[in-house]
Amino acid sequence: MTNSPYLNQSVVITGASSGIGEALAYELAGQGAWLTLGARRLDNLTTIAEKCRVLGGKAIAVQCDIADQMQCASLIQQAAEAYGRIDTLVNNAGITMWARFSDLQDPVLINQIMQVNFTGAVYCTYYALPHLKQSRGRIACISSMGEKLVAPGNTGYVASKRALDAFFESLRPEISDDGISVTMLYLGFIDTGFAGRMLDSAGQPSSGIQPMLKRVKQMSAEDGARLIARTTADRKRQVFMPVNGLPGVLLPWLKLIMPGYLERMGKQFMERSGL
Ligand SMILES: NC(=O)c1ccc[n+]([C@@H]2O[C@H](COP(=O)([O-])OP(=O)(O)OC[C@H]3O[C@@H](n4cnc5c(N)ncnc54)[C@H](OP(=O)(O)O)[C@@H]3O)[C@@H](O)[C@H]2O)c1
Repeated sequence: MTNSPYLNQSVVITGASSGIGEALAYELAGQGAWLTLGARRLDNLTTIAEKCRVLGGKAIAVQCDIADQMQCASLIQQAAEAYGRIDTLVNNAGITMWARFSDLQDPVLINQIMQVNFTGAVYCTYYALPHLKQSRGRIACISSMGEKLVAPGNTGYVASKRALDAFFESLRPEISDDGISVTMLYLGFIDTGFAGRMLDSAGQPSSGIQPMLKRVKQMSAEDGARLIARTTADRKRQVFMPVNGLPGVLLPWLKLIMPGYLERMGKQFMERSGL
């Protein structure tokens, strides 16, 4: 633990009440980090914070809907007040959908996804920046390999993740002189049940593509958390995870060279799922 880059470092994790955010909280707590855990489900966060303290870290639980600007401001303020500094912000909170765009009962669903996955990350980053400038800190953004592919049925989700990409790619040179790094992580399938909570055409959680993932190799949340922790500490610019055995870094090239092929693959996948 004494050599850990996170020892006595203040880290804010959004979406820490389950899945990857929860696993990352345990990973960093084991490395002696001081954690601020944000999400809507306070009961989960409180239990996770207790486990983090047992593992050797400090932790506070902050109930926060990151679709709300003032709640993002409060999350960051509470982290700064608790520990006197912020060294790393992990923009992890996310929701997703599985529905044809034309089947949506209300297209406002796309905006709801943008508000959590994109605007929420932007707000948290805005309020954290003064603290990250002082600490010459780090930002990690949890994106998806899906946004590098063609993803019919998942339009709002991939749009929100691609917006993150454009935003943080452009922000990076604005803040590099302040010593702040931005690590974009394009994750493949991680075994958290995320794909089984996809919002359907009525905006309700549905089993989504979860039944189709039985045959797909998924990374565990713990391995995903270790990958996020290591690459963020190393201030990597981009991290591409493999998708079903294919090296992730090849997929953007494949889309450039063979867009029609990827469109057909995406369409077949969507139709096989029953959409
Ligand atoms: N699992 C995968 O295969 C996969 C692949 C690529 C990328 N990702 C990305 O990984 C991230 C984490 O997903 P996961 O797999 O760990 O799924 P998860 O267990 O469903 O985690 C999502 C987290 O986001 C939080 N969240 C959702 N809406 C929120 C809101 N309005 N305000 C604050 N927090 C909110 C949830 O907490 P509350 O419900 O308590 O608010 C939860 O803690 C997401 O950004 C996702 O896009 C996942």
